[in-house]
Amino acid sequence: MVIMQKRAVYPGSFDPVTLGHLDIITRAAEAVDELIIGVLENRAKIALFSVEERVKMLQIITDSLPNVRVESFHGLSVDFAKMQGAGFIVRGLRAITDFDYELQMAQTNRIMAPEIDTIFFATNLEYAYLSSTTVKEVASYGGDITKFVPEYVAREVVARYK
Ligand code: PNS
Repeated sequence: MVIMQKRAVYPGSFDPVTLGHLDIITRAAEAVDELIIGVLENRAKIALFSVEERVKMLQIITDSLPNVRVESFHGLSVDFAKMQGAGFIVRGLRAITDFDYELQMAQTNRIMAPEIDTIFFATNLEYAYLSSTTVKEVASYGGDITKFVPEYVAREVVARYK
């Protein structure tokens, strides 16, 4: 008997990873056999953290999740999914404002790779307002970000703005 492993990728910028991301990671990891977080190396975007730093932060905060691993990638998310042998792309939906972009991306990805499906997780209400961009803005003005990101990440972000 051949047992099919359900493998998914969760691509994103994660600059930095937030509690909203971590919530999606934890729930997705329960739904699939293996979850590979893909940190996009996007040369067009100026990031606060290098790809290596983002990968390390994700590795540290997902250490207790045995079926999660973290990789970096550049190029298309569907190509990353194919390279990892994944049949699914995981994305979080915070609010209706995410929907248009996410649907467009999922449908484009499906045309490029019909064998890969996108699974959306509805973000917990608690994190519906949260984004990496707002975390950086709050931190840049010296605000408290400990309610928005894991403790380790908060320390790294604060250090970056010192
Ligand atoms: O965390 P983000 O910035 O919302 O993640 C966006 C991401 C990385 C998922 C998206 O920009 C992406 O998939 N980029 C890689 C290029 C690609 O595959 N684009 C989708 C085709 S429309």
